[in-house]
Amino acid sequence: MLGIGVIGCGYWGPNVIRNFASIEECELRAVCDLDPERLGGIHRRYPAARATADALALIADPAVDAVAICTPIHTHFPLAHAALEAGKHVLVEKPLTDSVETAEALVEMAEDRGLTLQVDHTFVYGGAVRKIREIIDEGQLGDLLYFDSVRVNLGLFQSNVNVLWDLAPHDLSIMTHLIDRQPRWVSAIGSTHYGKHENLAYLTMKFDDMLIAHLHVNWLAPVKLRSTLIGGSQRMIVYDDLAPSEKVLVYDKGITHNADVSSRNRALVDYRVGDMYAPHLDNTEPLNRVCRVFIDAVERGIRPPTDGLAGLRVVRLLEAGQQSLRKNGEQIAL
Ligand SMILES: NC(=O)c1ccc[n+]([C@@H]2O[C@H](COP(=O)([O-])OP(=O)(O)OC[C@H]3O[C@@H](n4cnc5c(N)ncnc54)[C@H](O)[C@@H]3O)[C@@H](O)[C@H]2O)c1
Repeated sequence: MLGIGVIGCGYWGPNVIRNFASIEECELRAVCDLDPERLGGIHRRYPAARATADALALIADPAVDAVAICTPIHTHFPLAHAALEAGKHVLVEKPLTDSVETAEALVEMAEDRGLTLQVDHTFVYGGAVRKIREIIDEGQLGDLLYFDSVRVNLGLFQSNVNVLWDLAPHDLSIMTHLIDRQPRWVSAIGSTHYGKHENLAYLTMKFDDMLIAHLHVNWLAPVKLRSTLIGGSQRMIVYDDLAPSEKVLVYDKGITHNADVSSRNRALVDYRVGDMYAPHLDNTEPLNRVCRVFIDAVERGIRPPTDGLAGLRVVRLLEAGQQSLRKNGEQIAL
């Protein structure tokens, strides 16, 4: 039976703990947090799991075969490094690390040691994104023209990271999962209205073909919006993650471009307006799939869709975005 240890019992960690504890193919054997109150609360709920404030002790515990790291971003690298070095499989929260250099080092370590390294890019495991991927893979959208996402709310102003590193990993992981090629350049501008870190950012990415992507992330919006538009030459998708049902709508709409507009009566484009449908989506809790896929990866060697390399791709875009933010929107080539 696979023994799981979870480091970090703050906001997200308890969700990871709850999911591993509910899966019969593994056993939650240890939990860890520096904060005694948080650790105590979790230990009361899961008394069979050993509780410790020392992450290295959890990693060294022979009953722990795999470690989930749910701590702040700057701690991901040292903790994941220690776990891999100790021969433990690692599930790490998004984003993988806070730099390309450290993300590459973890990918290499996991590869060399034959260990699983998976990043919890939760949305990739949700029914909506999996369905969109299916629709794109079937060629239903035609040529991809744009990816446009908005992720805003009156969010928790984080003390260690800006809004780009906090929220954009979600959209970047969705985008890189759906579009398996790298943008040519990244440009980002943002604003720090309060405190030290940007609380609003606009990130633009241009691909080699017609595809362009834009992300808007913001902790200072009066309402919560989680929506993505994906435009294709044949069909377009509207994905609203907050919709109670029918989160994904596929529109059979588009235009036909008239190359020959010499005749005065000929418009530049003709509009095509067809049906819209809402595909059926799997409602399994995405985090439950994350945990199950992790167990499958460890036990059966099945590569997770958000393995270390996928995590690295996201970190590369974040780092380029961060460089551009500092240079007021300069295009950073990838
Ligand atoms: N996948 C998702 O949808 C999702 C959602 C929210 C947060 N996250 C990610 O989860 C991670 C944690 O975020 P959070 O919002 O839960 O943060 P948090 O601050 O609420 O919790 C982090 C916890 O880690 C503990 N901790 C820090 N360093 C430690 C160490 N060395 N050893 C043991 N415990 C330590 C802290 O005491 C705290 O309780 C971040 O990487 C974040 O990006 C992911």
